[in-house]
Amino acid sequence: MTTIGTPLSPAATKVMLLGSGELGKEVLIALQRLGVETIAVDRYEHAPGQQVAHHARTITMSDPAQLKALIEAERPHLVVPEIEAIATPMLQELEAAGVVRVIPTARAARLTMDREGIRRLAAETLGLPTSPYKFCDSLDALQAAIDAGIGYPCIVKPVMSSSGKGQSKIDGPADVKKAWDYAMSGGRVGPGRIIVEGFIDFDYEITQLTVRALGADGQIQTHFCDPIGHVQVSGDYVESWQPHPMTVTALAESRRIAQAVTDNLGMGHDGQPSGLGLFGVELFVKGDQVWFSEVSPRPHDTGMVTMITQWQNEFELHARAILGLPVDTALKSPGASAVIYGGVEAKGIVFDGVDEALRVPNSEIRLFGKPESFTKRRMGVALVHDADVDVARTQAKLAASKVRPRKA
Ligand SMILES: Nc1ncnc2c1ncn2[C@@H]1O[C@H](COP(=O)(O)OP(=O)(O)OP(=O)(O)O)[C@@H](O)[C@H]1O
Ligand SMILES: [Mg+2]
Repeated sequence: MTTIGTPLSPAATKVMLLGSGELGKEVLIALQRLGVETIAVDRYEHAPGQQVAHHARTITMSDPAQLKALIEAERPHLVVPEIEAIATPMLQELEAAGVVRVIPTARAARLTMDREGIRRLAAETLGLPTSPYKFCDSLDALQAAIDAGIGYPCIVKPVMSSSGKGQSKIDGPADVKKAWDYAMSGGRVGPGRIIVEGFIDFDYEITQLTVRALGADGQIQTHFCDPIGHVQVSGDYVESWQPHPMTVTALAESRRIAQAVTDNLGMGHDGQPSGLGLFGVELFVKGDQVWFSEVSPRPHDTGMVTMITQWQNEFELHARAILGLPVDTALKSPGASAVIYGGVEAKGIVFDGVDEALRVPNSEIRLFGKPESFTKRRMGVALVHDADVDVARTQAKLAASKVRPRKA
């Protein structure tokens, strides 16, 4: 049985979000609606989620001492990581000591913090199909890995990076040094380590949102959302839609892979299958063949489309699942999302044309409220539902294009 208290009272159910960007903001809103007391943590002030939570805290989440001090001071019932750059060994320590529960598990946060933990788990422990890969610590090692079998074309990524940062494709020997140097400039921490992956010539890629939630019998059940198709430019998502049509075989294989990965990540430090919440499993598909790419043990950026396509969007599913509540992953309508970029480098910008955007039939707009804009920073998203997913894609891009950010 799940009990929820009254916020700002001694009986409050308290949840702390580690990372309070646009995805965290929506999780926080979903939690607020269920009467949860929320604490939004980020590395900078006025982050999107901090604007809708009961409490805002600003710390360096990759610093174990700061993270420990904050969790011990706030004593949340649940800690929900929204980003990868967190001192996850400290979360493991606090979870093992019974101080806090980490969503889905501290182990999952640790394994998905960099590309190595999760890739080795998927390919080597679970035997799932992935691109051929090798981890390298130098330019010479990278060249050797390519020559020894990875071949051309291939993709180089810093092990600690997201949203395509430091990532590039190598088409031939002339690109190798450039890719190495670029990866060194784009990683999260220090001089680094990279993964080089053989290039998969896929027909399309999807995100398989997968939810681990408690059933009426108290056992964890796995639920799947309809597949989300998306387009990435330089490793960053620009549009997504749901559902993406798939063959019966490819869909079944996608779900087999998603189940295997989430079953494993849902296992706690004690080996119990205790991990609850939503995961975004990224897969490449060619015909009936499916490759595992990566997984987020939390809502996924391409899943923002579910704010207009599902009865319970991915943020509500996550909030419900982590609180032990039942979930429903049913589709409400096909639809699409298109990203609104900053376009300018400035603080406190304004957005013209929101009215024009909302005149696009069946549209919605989300502006995240980020205090500072960068040319390629995601500042908002346009959402459109339509019975025809192709129409929804066109109209979502149209709505996004109507919103024009500029300096104030
Ligand atoms: N081995 C590969 N073969 C072909 N395309 C690839 C490969 N690896 C990555 N890509 C392309 O680059 C995109 C980003 O790669 P990946 O998801 O690994 O990086 P990321 O930085 O974590 O991105 P994000 O944080 O946006 O998910 C993929 O969605 C895919 O379009
Ligand atoms: Mg990705």
